[in-house]
Amino acid sequence: MYQRTLGKSGLLVSEIGLGCWQLGNDFGAIEDGVANDILTTAYQQGITFFDTADVYGVGLSEERIGKWRRAFDTVPVIATKVGRNSNLYPNGYSKASIKESLADSAKRLGVEALDLAQLHCVPRDVLFDGDIIAWMEDLQKEGLIKHFGASVEMLDEALFCCESSALTSLQILFNVFRQDATTELFPIAAQNDVGIIVRLPLASGLLSGNMTKARTFEQGDHRNYNRDGAAFHVGETFNGIPYELGVDLAEQAKDLLPEGMELVDLALRWILDHPQVSSVIAGSTKASQVLRNVKASGLPPLSVELHQQLATFYKLSVRHHIRGGI
Ligand SMILES: NC(=O)c1ccc[n+]([C@@H]2O[C@H](COP(=O)([O-])OP(=O)(O)OC[C@H]3O[C@@H](n4cnc5c(N)ncnc54)[C@H](OP(=O)(O)O)[C@@H]3O)[C@@H](O)[C@H]2O)c1
Repeated sequence: MYQRTLGKSGLLVSEIGLGCWQLGNDFGAIEDGVANDILTTAYQQGITFFDTADVYGVGLSEERIGKWRRAFDTVPVIATKVGRNSNLYPNGYSKASIKESLADSAKRLGVEALDLAQLHCVPRDVLFDGDIIAWMEDLQKEGLIKHFGASVEMLDEALFCCESSALTSLQILFNVFRQDATTELFPIAAQNDVGIIVRLPLASGLLSGNMTKARTFEQGDHRNYNRDGAAFHVGETFNGIPYELGVDLAEQAKDLLPEGMELVDLALRWILDHPQVSSVIAGSTKASQVLRNVKASGLPPLSVELHQQLATFYKLSVRHHIRGGI
């Protein structure tokens, strides 16, 4: 597993990380044993970067990581998020309330100081007001967080965050079905030494190449209840693309596959081919998916021609179907 530097933190993180939203049972219920198996398999495969949030399973994801970390005696880099719990969202933001939430996360994760605390898709007006970034800078100086970043929905929010000289990382939606960051954001992030953490690399599973129109999702799975953005931003579920159309688009993308390559490899390798990316936090509901996803790190880069074909496919066939803005 190759390592990359996480922006100006200087931390080395595995280029394939583990997204731990699933460990909060928000993609259907996962038993404790399966959750542990996912974490242990990831670590054994060289994954040293784990992304979670206080709201994933109302603390369950953080608790599971905390317990596992202590029992397994590991020291991976754990990134969490703050900004969407019911004490804060949508209008309870203050330095004190954020500090309290972060202290709760540290307790669940069993650490004194958080490796990386990311603002979690806070409302646009709260972000653009600017105070919240200044509070994160203060909390870093006070020692509760070692580094801070922001997870955002829109490219203009990402560009705004880059203006903070202390910001280590940006977590964004970026995949074969959402490519705009390459031209708009990456040059500025590189200039400001901001590492890019990629979420939804598989567009909630569409780009695994395994999804069919007949597939159903459990009631508690956001891919059931948030398909049209009923509970939170529509872009977070299937990348904002209507599910059945997304399945068709994944089938079309398969036409571009080089011989012997599967869609999941192409999707993850395509992201890794962008040097500004620090880590791709693919989410997994099974250890077998982790084993599959880490393989992308060992694959050679895609050809220039294939990159061009995928860019054209995106522009002509995918981009206009994304709901919720870019
Ligand atoms: N606002 C935010 O900050 C935010 C929002 C969303 C996500 N995130 C973070 O980003 C991480 C990744 O995003 P995501 O999990 O939503 O999307 P994703 O990584 O694109 O998709 C994950 C889903 O794809 C399927 N999958 C993964 N590997 C597979 C494989 N090898 N073969 C077949 N299917 C596979 C699994 O679904 P099934 O097992 O059900 O098939 C899995 O639940 C999350 O875990 C979370 O940590 C952050």
